[in-house]
Order: sequence, then structure tokens, then C-alpha cells
Amino acid sequence: MTNKLEIYKCNVCGNIIEVINPGEGELVCCSLPMEHLEEKKEDSQFQEKHVPIISTEGENKIIRVGSIPHPMEQNHYIIFIEAISPDKKYIKRKYLSPNEEPKLDLKSTCNYDNFTARELCNIHGLWTNEYNN
Ligand SMILES: [Fe+2]
Repeated sequence: MTNKLEIYKCNVCGNIIEVINPGEGELVCCSLPMEHLEEKKEDSQFQEKHVPIISTEGENKIIRVGSIPHPMEQNHYIIFIEAISPDKKYIKRKYLSPNEEPKLDLKSTCNYDNFTARELCNIHGLWTNEYNN
């Protein structure tokens, strides 16, 4: 049984997938069950470099990764940052590459009043934080 927007990883080939529509079956890749990436929060190990930090700059809200900036190296980087509306109908997601600043600018045109911020580190997994206006 899966839930909408859950993220799963294959620890053999590195496939990472997201649940669009939940189903009953087990997700399998490379003949093995995929790992469900649990959302980690500020009470987890390595939280300083991973929990999304939300700030307001002018009209925009900015999501950055970590109170200590996360590395953006070839072998260790943030794959994406996203903001999810409370009803899970709208998502703004930015995919990143090594050497890019791990930052998502929510322009005023899609400034949700409340949202869930998530980011995915290629080594340390999925992290989340809530923003309530
Ligand atoms: Fe990391």
C-alpha cells in the first residue's frame, strides 16, 4: 500500500520514483522491494545541512537547504527542492545539478499561504519542513 507523493528508491540501480496514484501492490525494481524514503525532520541526524529553511524576501518566499548550506558536489548534492500545497494538488519543484545553489524561489504568482517544503539529498534522503503563514 502506497500513499500519494511518497518517494521510493531502488538501492541496486538508483531509480527514484514518486507515487502519483496509490495502489495496493509492492513496488519492486531490480527484483527487490524498493526502499520507501521516510521524510526526515529537524530531530534527525544531519538535520543542520538538510532541513528546508523558509524565509521571506520581499514578495517571495525562498526555500534553502539547511541552516548550514548543503554541499552541491558531483557525488553529494540536492536532487530537488519543492513546495507542496496543503491539499497536495499543487507542487512547485526545482531540479538541481551539482554546483547550483540549493534554493527554490517561490515567486509571488505561486506564493502558497501554507505549504510543505521537501528536498531530496542523493545520499541522505528526503527531508521536510512546514510553512504556516
Ligand atoms: Fe546530504
